[in-house]
Amino acid sequence: MLATLICVPALFACSDATTEPANKVDASAAMKDVANEKMGNKAAEDNARAEITEGSSDMASGVDYHSFSNPDEVRVTHLALALSANFDTQQLSGSATLKVERTDPKYNELILDTRALKIETVTVNGEAVPFTLGETDVDLGTPLSISLPENANQVTVNYATSPSASGVQWLTPAQTAGKKHPFLFTQAQAVHARSFIPLQDSPQVRVTYEATIKTPPSLLAVMSAANDPQTKRDGEYTFTMPQPIPSYLIALAIGDLQFKAMGERTGVYAEPALLESAAKEFEDTEAMLEVTEETYGPYQWDRYDLLILPPSFPFGGMENPRLSFITPTVIAGDKSLVSLIAHELAHSWSGNTVTNATWRDLWLNEGFTTYLTYRIMEMIYGHERFKKEAVLGYQDLQNDIAALEQNDEILAIDLRGRNPDDVFSNIPYEKGALFLRELEQKVGRENFDAFLMQYFEDFAFKSITTDTFIDYLDETLLKQYPEKLDAERIQQWIFEPGIPEGAPKPESDAFTKIDDTRSAWLSGDVKAADIETAQWTVHEWLYFLNNMPESLTDKQLTALDTAFSLTETQNNEIAHSWLMIAVANEYKPAYERLYSYLVSIGRNKLVKPLYRTLSQTPEGKAFAKKAFEEAKPGYHPLTIRANEGFVN
Ligand code: BES
Ligand code: ZN
Repeated sequence: MLATLICVPALFACSDATTEPANKVDASAAMKDVANEKMGNKAAEDNARAEITEGSSDMASGVDYHSFSNPDEVRVTHLALALSANFDTQQLSGSATLKVERTDPKYNELILDTRALKIETVTVNGEAVPFTLGETDVDLGTPLSISLPENANQVTVNYATSPSASGVQWLTPAQTAGKKHPFLFTQAQAVHARSFIPLQDSPQVRVTYEATIKTPPSLLAVMSAANDPQTKRDGEYTFTMPQPIPSYLIALAIGDLQFKAMGERTGVYAEPALLESAAKEFEDTEAMLEVTEETYGPYQWDRYDLLILPPSFPFGGMENPRLSFITPTVIAGDKSLVSLIAHELAHSWSGNTVTNATWRDLWLNEGFTTYLTYRIMEMIYGHERFKKEAVLGYQDLQNDIAALEQNDEILAIDLRGRNPDDVFSNIPYEKGALFLRELEQKVGRENFDAFLMQYFEDFAFKSITTDTFIDYLDETLLKQYPEKLDAERIQQWIFEPGIPEGAPKPESDAFTKIDDTRSAWLSGDVKAADIETAQWTVHEWLYFLNNMPESLTDKQLTALDTAFSLTETQNNEIAHSWLMIAVANEYKPAYERLYSYLVSIGRNKLVKPLYRTLSQTPEGKAFAKKAFEEAKPGYHPLTIRANEGFVN
């Protein structure tokens, strides 16, 4: 196969962040731009920070503009956590012990990222040492500097989190399914691990970890680590994560959780009330795992379990290794929304095994994962469903491109001076996936699959930049298929806004029929009640609704609602599409549902477009404000931040 394509780390600057100091890796003359490739190099970083203030447009590849840490000088390689969860004070408190390695004996300062942490004491090799907290940045938190005596290799920080930690949500019993026990979950991506652990919070630093977590005895703790489903529920839980992972994948949840196996390597943790329905909805997870391994190489993480969170979880899912965190809003009863599971599973390859080195390179995580998601869905559910999902994804992308600033349509986005949370869009996802689909179509599926399998092997447990990927492409696919690919086109995909002309355009015959049906209904040729919808899947419904004209009459809205009970739909995605139409047209019979939807769901992707559209009229804004104020105590900090601007 691709025997010549083995990655030579020095050539491709595949920084082995676990063991290799990054500057050593970069010492190759073969690098296109050595100065630019300096992963986390402190001098480059200082320069780059100065550039932000000076407004220069030179951006250094591989520099993490979202961490204060100095892994190029002193690198953390292992983390031992000992934390107690206090639900009364809403604090995690205890210690983080970091194993550190200096890249050169002359470096004697360790800089950690923190955010709103109360630092009690710091010890180095068991001895108390002084420490300094620097100036706080609203987005990045506060650097914690610790001077290291000679031979220091172990640093312990005793600390407590703030009740309003940006990466932790504490839920009251009323906010859970069972209503009897409190719940806690963390969400570290992108820059929130530092709000519950003092560490080098950069995706180019990988650590192994172990943890002891104390909880009220009736609750179970789970982590993005080896979890023992048979563990005794006694309020003290221990974990180990033997594979090195970036900090944004460290995760903890505590609640009244039970486990049910779905397959040999897959299972689900959920509150008892949701356990059976979740296990049924996601029963194809094991099959997904198997086909992904067959196509892209071995699963590196032992078990793959799901954790179903309360509805305030701000994302659809989060790929925490061995244990993806999943919103309950995708339990639809008919597996119609399980592409989310394929997505989080796919991250086990693209993201968790091969990791973006900085948040600018997020598309390496999300674009590859979105491409893999489509492929997994096709392998499990067939070509028709794949085509429909690809069209829906493409339309999401088109809508974003219509709305975004050109600079935000670039895959390798300039995030200097910005909070990664504020730049969330379909660009890294769907544009990234479309780019890979074009490569696939040009070189052929089989060849592209072989390329990806090799890519995952060559960069396993490494954090890489966009430039490293481009260099790799140059040395591999471009050399193999010079007549099919060209470097300029690749540059265009990665560094220019919009969708390049001639890009693949997903199509679905099933949807052409839906277009005809919609037109016939809009022109009055067919009555809503006479539309034959018995065979429609959720995808048909979404396509039918998402492509309605901007304004509909009350009569039309009533006809649709009467025929299909859309206001009552139990599918959260269909409800979202319908409520968007209702808001745009001020269709009041749906507003009660709209209100309860907004106060019961915290998944940002579902609520933000509704708040945004509501905020466009004074009356809508007043309604949004009321819902937001009621929902706010139950919303995650990220959902609050993303939406408060619409109601104030
Ligand atoms: N890793 C992301 C979530 C994320 C991205 C959190 C960037 C913070 C910063 C996760 O895998 C994801 O993409 N979730 C999507 C899934 C969807 C595209 C299927 C979501 O939550 O909507
Ligand atoms: Zn993702």
